[in-house]
Amino acid sequence: MSAQPATIRRDPGYLGLTEPAATLPAAHYYDPAQYLRELSQVWYRNWIYVCRASELGAPRSFRTLALGDQSLLVVRGDDGVLRAFHNTCRHRGSALCRTEAGRFPPAGIVCPYHAWRYNFRGELQQASSRLAGDGFDLRDYPLYGLPAMEWQGFVFAALTADPPPFASSIDVPLERLDNWELGKLVIGHRMSKTIECNWKIFWENFNECLHCPGVHPRLSQLVPIFGRALMEQREDPAWQDHAGGDDPQYIGGLRRGALSWTMDGRPVGVPFPRLTAEERAAGHTYLTCLPSMFLAAHVDYVRVVRLLPLAPERTAMSIEFLFRPETLADPALDLSRAIEFTDIVMSEDAAICEVNQRGLHALPHAAGVLMPEEYVVRQFQDWVRGQLSRT
Ligand code: FES
Ligand SMILES: [Fe+2]
Repeated sequence: MSAQPATIRRDPGYLGLTEPAATLPAAHYYDPAQYLRELSQVWYRNWIYVCRASELGAPRSFRTLALGDQSLLVVRGDDGVLRAFHNTCRHRGSALCRTEAGRFPPAGIVCPYHAWRYNFRGELQQASSRLAGDGFDLRDYPLYGLPAMEWQGFVFAALTADPPPFASSIDVPLERLDNWELGKLVIGHRMSKTIECNWKIFWENFNECLHCPGVHPRLSQLVPIFGRALMEQREDPAWQDHAGGDDPQYIGGLRRGALSWTMDGRPVGVPFPRLTAEERAAGHTYLTCLPSMFLAAHVDYVRVVRLLPLAPERTAMSIEFLFRPETLADPALDLSRAIEFTDIVMSEDAAICEVNQRGLHALPHAAGVLMPEEYVVRQFQDWVRGQLSRT
């Protein structure tokens, strides 16, 4: 594109960028010092998705989550309350739990090193010395407590005492997915992948569809507007030309005849009964909780994607497929059409993220440039800049 037309037409409500914008510095995607800065400024200061509450259903059940050099311990107390702690003993700092999940005995949480014992509120109940030193008081050594919360069956915890209000961590109103009744849904399938890219590369790829025609041929057929390299209609500068129409190429939604993100477009199981006609027609509704999670809600299932950074150039992705219990109870149910479709799309994304990552190291490449369709990438990068500049 060597020249722009003399008059640039941008219909009112156009969402795209109107001038090129620089990306984050290339080194921010591989420099180890930057990675550590982002762990402490972004990952240790926001709500992190841990697991579904049903996985911590029983009293005394626990999960641990490794994040950077930190380890979170989330436990359901005998009183039914979920609490989070640093997974660290107050004696000489040993890790308390060495497994990802399990259930504590009724006696409490016992450190594997010298057997200090804590209750599920994190209070030290017993030290193991024959005689504690003068003035030693058990009450001075509770576990390091952290915020934990449940929302719609999702458990979140934070590695800071003052995470942002949860509602402000979600990019849409909290009630946006109410009709999916998320709290009632159960996990029908999981998959996970390690992607050789910086965590921000994943989010940037998630936030644009300029790559869709080339990277996702199958998805671009299912969602015709993606095939035009757009996420939604107002990314097209001339969107009003087709505003009143019903062609999914221009207004978004799934191709005619398709209802869900599956291999053949047919839903798996019974669609969620409370969805509005608009929600059904959209084909997908997203909710994002940076930096660790997004949901894609379809008419028949919800995909939960969790990200965790493993290294400057390595990211763990796990995907949970949530369904209505009635759907999973059907003996004739075949989830494979949904799972296979997701696997194709997410594998394409993972592969292209790795390609992106490899190119960033070129000696002259100080930064890239964002094009109009990458306006949400810009929003993401501004969010990262804001997080990094916080004191
Ligand atoms: S480090 Fe836990 S009891 Fe010694
Ligand atoms: Fe993609």
